[in-house]
Amino acid sequence: MQFPDGFLWGTATAAHQVEGGNVNSDCWLLEHVKSTFFVEPSGDACDQYHRYAEDFALLQRLGFNSYRFGIEWARVEPEEGEFSRAEIEHYRRMLAACRERGLLPMVTLHHFTSPRWIAARGGFESSDTAGRFARYCERIAKDLGDLIGAACTLNELNAVSLLQQMGTLPSDEKILTSRWRAEASHAMGVAPESFSAFPFCAQSTIRDNILRTHREGYDALHSGRGKFPVGMTLALQELVPAEGGEDRCAAALRESEDVFIEAARGDDFAGVQTYTRRFFGSKGPLPPPKDAECTQMGYEFYPEALEATIRRTAAIAKCPIYVTESGIAALDDSRRVEFIRRALACVERCIRDGIDVRGYYYWSMLDNFEWILGYGPKFGLVAVDRTTQERIVKPSAEYLGRMARANSTSDPVTRA
Ligand code: BGC
Repeated sequence: MQFPDGFLWGTATAAHQVEGGNVNSDCWLLEHVKSTFFVEPSGDACDQYHRYAEDFALLQRLGFNSYRFGIEWARVEPEEGEFSRAEIEHYRRMLAACRERGLLPMVTLHHFTSPRWIAARGGFESSDTAGRFARYCERIAKDLGDLIGAACTLNELNAVSLLQQMGTLPSDEKILTSRWRAEASHAMGVAPESFSAFPFCAQSTIRDNILRTHREGYDALHSGRGKFPVGMTLALQELVPAEGGEDRCAAALRESEDVFIEAARGDDFAGVQTYTRRFFGSKGPLPPPKDAECTQMGYEFYPEALEATIRRTAAIAKCPIYVTESGIAALDDSRRVEFIRRALACVERCIRDGIDVRGYYYWSMLDNFEWILGYGPKFGLVAVDRTTQERIVKPSAEYLGRMARANSTSDPVTRA
């Protein structure tokens, strides 16, 4: 099928995961406290802070027409109210370079990391963060809005609720009394109850704050130069009830997904980010079925989950959809090709049924810093030599690039 004109074919990254040296962020701090739970620090990451021109040239050569990347709040506003003109100029150069390569820049204003001072003022556990985020968004809209192609306010603002439903986040009490939180707050000169870094935060307070942060950020981004679309991105899985798990599954869907999707109503778009499906039993989430193929992350290999999440989001949010992340961590790149092929077939079926899907961004352009798991999981279309920073293009990059160039899922080389 030929995709609609103007369909965006992209890859996605986040500032902290690829730029390197994000020293003013809360994440950098957590990577360096004595009791850190990160397996290794982010360090130089992929040095995209300095190598963006080379990366954009590569994306253009491959055939993409868009790139999703992060603007790092911790760089732009390293101390409260102190905006760095030099860093804003850096992102201006980056946006311009992106456009010069024929790539529409989609930016993310907050992709998990915040400035340290935000974390020391309660992060998203504090109701003041919404206003502070809006002030930062306003500045970005004013100074960079003329070059932005599309903007995501917060990446996966439902992440905490999702981790909670999946049983992977410690209890509020454990987080509040953890050694790492004590050490990080000590480093910032505040009491442990004042320090909060997303998504490792006490869960009970943050949902309303984060939804308000999106809303105020959304309005602020519309206040400046440029008429680009703005939306949130959501971590969505296909949640499937196993026998006896119907109630738990319905509750998880409601708590971790639907309330957030509903908040996207009236926005310019909703960003769907899907990696797998999850079964629910009577006691909660179940591990993948015994015979299932699993990815490097331990997720079930199930690209079709994307079809369910696109359909659900479109039905509830009633706004255009971008698939802002879809991907797989795999050492065997042929599994990535297969994943992409089947994920795009989902997009195609949705478009055929009249759903307004406007773009597909593969996560990720580069093998990068996978948060607490460090550099182990390989999500990239392009490998990165960790010593020389050399980019090594994988066959999956060429594969997706060919479809991008043809604006179609029929690959002229494999005819698949
Ligand atoms: C996040 C990325 C992350 C990816 C793979 C998404 O939830 O937005 O930052 O690297 O998943 O785990």
